[in-house]
Amino acid sequence: MPIGRTLLGVLCLLAVSITSVHADEPILIRFSHVVGENTPKGKGAEMFKQKVNERLAGRVKVEIYPRSLKFNDNEVFMALLFGDVEMAAPSLSKFRGYAPALEVFDLPFLFDDVDHVHRFQHSDIGQQLLQTMLPVGIEGLAYWDNGMRAISANKPLRVPPDADGLVFRIEPSTVIQQQYTELGVVAVPMPFSQVYDAIRTGVVDGQENSWSNIYSRDIHALHKNFTELDHSFQGYMVITSQDFWEDLPDDIRSELTAILAEVTEEVNRMAAEQSESDRQKVAAAEGVEILEPSPSDVQLWRDAMTPIWDQFQPEIGAAVIDAAVAAGNAQ
Ligand code: SIN
Repeated sequence: MPIGRTLLGVLCLLAVSITSVHADEPILIRFSHVVGENTPKGKGAEMFKQKVNERLAGRVKVEIYPRSLKFNDNEVFMALLFGDVEMAAPSLSKFRGYAPALEVFDLPFLFDDVDHVHRFQHSDIGQQLLQTMLPVGIEGLAYWDNGMRAISANKPLRVPPDADGLVFRIEPSTVIQQQYTELGVVAVPMPFSQVYDAIRTGVVDGQENSWSNIYSRDIHALHKNFTELDHSFQGYMVITSQDFWEDLPDDIRSELTAILAEVTEEVNRMAAEQSESDRQKVAAAEGVEILEPSPSDVQLWRDAMTPIWDQFQPEIGAAVIDAAVAAGNAQ
């Protein structure tokens, strides 16, 4: 056989084997998030990975990037759209640039508790909100809970004037920003990865978060005064890129959907337990005092914060706010 044809044959064989190695590779799902592994979101991501790696072994592989190792929550939206990660679960307070209606979750004192949040999320409008980012190529797959928020500083925050003049770290939500402006607080949006150092170095005096985020970031090592205000909900939307999701083979997409539904149920069950147990751990930390405001004190915070609802109605939408309020009465 002439040498040229042999070489051609070898090259063809090589090309076929390279192609088949590539074709056999599992689909990779990189799941990026910003909190610790021992939080509801961290555990949910891990559970998702385990179930996918078991039930879709060899076809799909999940890698988790926690604690902002890959991207912080502001960066992750573009990372998703550029195909640098396939899944994320940013806090609902970080969607403003993509879905302003989601700021409904930040309206202070709208949701009485997590059950109220669930009734709204399961309503028609709550489900439609998962799809509001399709025009920009982002698909909402599920809501995951963390918990209701507490506030903290190094002085007791019993009534709104106690916060006047303080600087608070907040998530990048204009609703949250305005809520604090009403109290005379300077509210500084900043990524979660910077909260601890911002408190430690005195850049900020105060913060708000769920108990699991407070405990997992050791905020109780720095702040000794917590107020269990429960004024708003901290939770997540699990998102993917629409291109990635729609390109998946149908059977894989439906198995991933089924796995996510199971994981969502489990995350939300765990989140409720963890909120309580992490609150107890914070309460037991040296020097920590958790104020449980009286109904009349809660009313003062409510009166100070809720006037901002009207200001945000045009961008969130009256129908969305009405549906969220109605979910509170629909027990
Ligand atoms: C998160 O729970 O994902 C972070 C929340 C925050 O930025 O405070």
